[in-house]
Amino acid sequence: MYIGIDLGTSGVKVVLADDSQTIVASHTASLKASYPQSGWAEQNADDWISATDAAMRALAAEHPALMGGVRGIGLSGQQHGATFVAEDHSALRPCMLWNDTRSHVQATKLDANPLFRERIGNIVFPGFTAPKVQWVRENEPDVFNRTTMVLLPKDFLRLWLTGEAVSDMSDASGTGWLNVAKRDWDDELLVETGLTRKNMPRLIEGSEASGEVRGELASKWGLSAGVVVAGGGGDNAASAVGQGIVAPGSAFVSLGTSGVLFAVNDAYKPNAASAVHTFCHALPDTWHQMGVILSAAGSMEWLSGVLGKPASELSNMAGALPTTPSAVQFLPYLSGERTPHNDASIRGAFIGLGVEHGPADMARAVMEGVAFAFRDNLEALRQAGTELDSVVAVGGGSRSETWLQIMAASLNLPVNVPADGDYGGAFGAARLGRLAATGEEITSIATPPPIVRTVEPDAAMAQTYGNAYARWKPLYGAVSSVTAQS
Ligand code: XUL
Repeated sequence: MYIGIDLGTSGVKVVLADDSQTIVASHTASLKASYPQSGWAEQNADDWISATDAAMRALAAEHPALMGGVRGIGLSGQQHGATFVAEDHSALRPCMLWNDTRSHVQATKLDANPLFRERIGNIVFPGFTAPKVQWVRENEPDVFNRTTMVLLPKDFLRLWLTGEAVSDMSDASGTGWLNVAKRDWDDELLVETGLTRKNMPRLIEGSEASGEVRGELASKWGLSAGVVVAGGGGDNAASAVGQGIVAPGSAFVSLGTSGVLFAVNDAYKPNAASAVHTFCHALPDTWHQMGVILSAAGSMEWLSGVLGKPASELSNMAGALPTTPSAVQFLPYLSGERTPHNDASIRGAFIGLGVEHGPADMARAVMEGVAFAFRDNLEALRQAGTELDSVVAVGGGSRSETWLQIMAASLNLPVNVPADGDYGGAFGAARLGRLAATGEEITSIATPPPIVRTVEPDAAMAQTYGNAYARWKPLYGAVSSVTAQS
């Protein structure tokens, strides 16, 4: 048996998987974030501990007999958060989360130092850990001076779980201090934010062992002594392991509230200028690129709220329209955009509305606008040397046949649909826990789920959607030029 723990923003999810990789139980304990000021997002690190304990106790209460057979645990976590840790391992202030952008000024300053992009292969985004530390250094010097270690969220959880200060390469890639090519902390970058290697956890691969569960917790949860805790991964890398997206060239596209295009690389291939994330994968000698769009299915959820119709009804209405690109265009920048624009202030737009248009046309335009934003991400990955043969579609939006067809035509790629199941971060973490405990071959464990069908791009549709994408692409510049704040 193996356990995966995913520390998300809205909750801690634990899954118990048996030796045949079937999830036999899963529990989630919810978490709250607080937003004390515009652009701020915080969570109490102690809440992660109580939520994990609650979810683990629920698992133990339901399956007391199986807990004794657990051999490995893996961790997956929300990325980029800055947890300021004191000498006694307590958190000195609430963790500043991945979506906390208060340190945008510090981020811009660090990003202007060419050493950063050269070593980390990424823009120093405001959400990354390094600018947050710089913000605390400037605004809360007392906290900064008492900080002995800065840890990512899941690594703070690990400190409590095992007593070990360790991070894995995939999560460490989102800090702004990792030399992503060399898979090591960069001393010169650390110094820029007033830190040294002594303030950093030890680095291992996601599939390696970081330590063992502390005796006190093991006896509380009914675990045997010596259960191994794997390095684990950032949530996107861990969920890629859950989906079997581990071989170079394999890719998933996630139509969740936000959208991710994630591709595996056998080498370090950065393209910081296009706001592509280039990170280490949670497995040795493997990297991944990731384009992130901030409102994917979130755009449809928004439209559904505005029109007062369920998203499923809107997508059925859009599906009844002809399979040609809509005359209405939509820019999905409801919360700004990361890839390829790295623009926190841009906002969305409908363009080309006429008296003849109604909810169905708007829904269609939303699906197309999101698909074109993904095409922008695909182009950004291409510029970084990545060619894809197909993508696996996951996330709520992938339940719409119409959206899948639009995605296939817009990307001009076959879109594979996996069998129903839970292949998320917690399951990927359980796989990493197993790899760390057994040393099994990665490819024999991190297998893809069965693909139930493939949506092939229709040649005529791909042609017209390619042309429509070319007409859509300049709209970002046009909207940005009329809405830019002076
Ligand atoms: C990745 C990112 C998010 C968080 C959310 O760069 O910011 O996916 O990991 O959990």
